[in-house]
Amino acid sequence: MLTKKIQDALNEQILTEAQSSQFYLSMASWAETEGLNGVARFLYQHSDEERMHMLKLVRFVNERGGKAVIPELKQPPKKWESVQSVFKALLDHETNVTAEINNVVEICLDEKDYTTHNFMQWYVSEQIEEEALARTILDKLSLIGNDKGGLYLFDRDLESLHGQESE
Ligand code: FEO
Repeated sequence: MLTKKIQDALNEQILTEAQSSQFYLSMASWAETEGLNGVARFLYQHSDEERMHMLKLVRFVNERGGKAVIPELKQPPKKWESVQSVFKALLDHETNVTAEINNVVEICLDEKDYTTHNFMQWYVSEQIEEEALARTILDKLSLIGNDKGGLYLFDRDLESLHGQESE
């Protein structure tokens, strides 16, 4: 059984993951309209992964005798200045998510809920990967700068980068 404190923290995390999914969906849609098909595909897939992160939490809360709350979502931005600004926003967002996950882990220890603590370790590892991936992409983008040919190749590369990630 979950304590109220843990249930509230997990429901807060459900909101964060749902919001992340919506945020990346909006980025994906923007990239698609800009003709950046590789970037769009990467972000659509990332959005789906966030939805999976949310669902995993919903199922866990309910299976442990709690009640998951399906939240209302904020409207994400409709457009971005550049691909660079998209991935900068993505990294900033993921850094905040990591801080929130760490906070949930801390609450688990305070409440001596080792089952939830164990469950949350999957999210801890996932955040390390996601932040590292976002940093790699930003490094590539900073090498490219304003070079259109470079951006074209980057867009193509991103499809295979994400292909490897999901294997
Ligand atoms: Fe599910 Fe990217 O945090």
